[in-house]
Amino acid sequence: MNDTQLQLERLSDELLLAIRRRPTVRIGIEKLSQKFLTDPATIRDAARLLISLGYRIKLKKSELIFLSAPDSLTQNELGYKLKSKIIGQNIFCYNAVKSTNDIASLLASDGATEGTLVTAEQQTKGRGRHGRSWHSPPGTGIYMSIILRPKIRPELAPGLSIIAALALAETLEPICPGEIKIKWPNDLLIGKRKVAGILTELTADKGKTDFVVVGIGINVNQGISSFPEEIRARATSLRRATKRKVARVALVQNFLVRFEKQYLAFISKGLVAALPKVRKYSSLLGEPVTVRAGQKKISGIAESIDQQGRLLIRTDTDLIPVSAGEVTVER
Ligand code: BTN
Repeated sequence: MNDTQLQLERLSDELLLAIRRRPTVRIGIEKLSQKFLTDPATIRDAARLLISLGYRIKLKKSELIFLSAPDSLTQNELGYKLKSKIIGQNIFCYNAVKSTNDIASLLASDGATEGTLVTAEQQTKGRGRHGRSWHSPPGTGIYMSIILRPKIRPELAPGLSIIAALALAETLEPICPGEIKIKWPNDLLIGKRKVAGILTELTADKGKTDFVVVGIGINVNQGISSFPEEIRARATSLRRATKRKVARVALVQNFLVRFEKQYLAFISKGLVAALPKVRKYSSLLGEPVTVRAGQKKISGIAESIDQQGRLLIRTDTDLIPVSAGEVTVER
């Protein structure tokens, strides 16, 4: 990018802020050129740049009229009126990356601050749990990763996945009232189909948590036929469930605020406050399940989730706490 392009980009960011600060949607171009100490033609170029990014702006002879902003995961949109204080204060947005978790890890190793958010419109190698891939087509889903630096023992890090799942369930609940469930530890379901997943990755040094990356993938506006054949019967999107398009920017912002609240409670008091709600959203409690973790296989009734975020399975003889694994409901 050359200097002129860079300047135009900066001007378009400032122009956007100026437009949004105004109580009316109409602004005189002459006034803007005085404000930004530039000529009207440059103001028009900056407005055209915003239009090319999806902003609906009418460019009249002497004024511009702001109509609407695009639902794009950009720093400008995600940061605009964001109400969280830590999570999302630094935002890196990409068009296409292999995996936002990988970028977040690199940024964290380079010293990125707690709460840094990485988003992408598309992932070419999105990663899921248990070595699976995460289908991440452009423009329709949400793919984001958050860097955390909690001062907790590494073995408590799974609790972060649990509170992320809870914050996400609370965010999705008003969109699909009564339909959102958490399949322990952190799959989000609508009915029996998966709508979102969480991949939490910990980097520890000498038994101390260095940083944690919480990666979240949400199927938002995908049509069901866009899912690969092998997951089509098990996947869903918010659009499929609600029969309407869902705004991604507002969804991310709501999530960040809810996640921050859960995170602050978690680092001061652990899972205590979150557990009743986590249990309320759980799709597993009371169900006959089999949990597979490595070579181990435990079958029984999923009875509860404990303060360490473990699933408690009632077998014929014992109550067994399980920290990680893949759960199948045996019905
Ligand atoms: C799962 O349910 O298997 C977890 C899926 C996690 C997907 C998200 S998308 C953003 C972040 N980047 C990745 O590569 N994975 C996570």
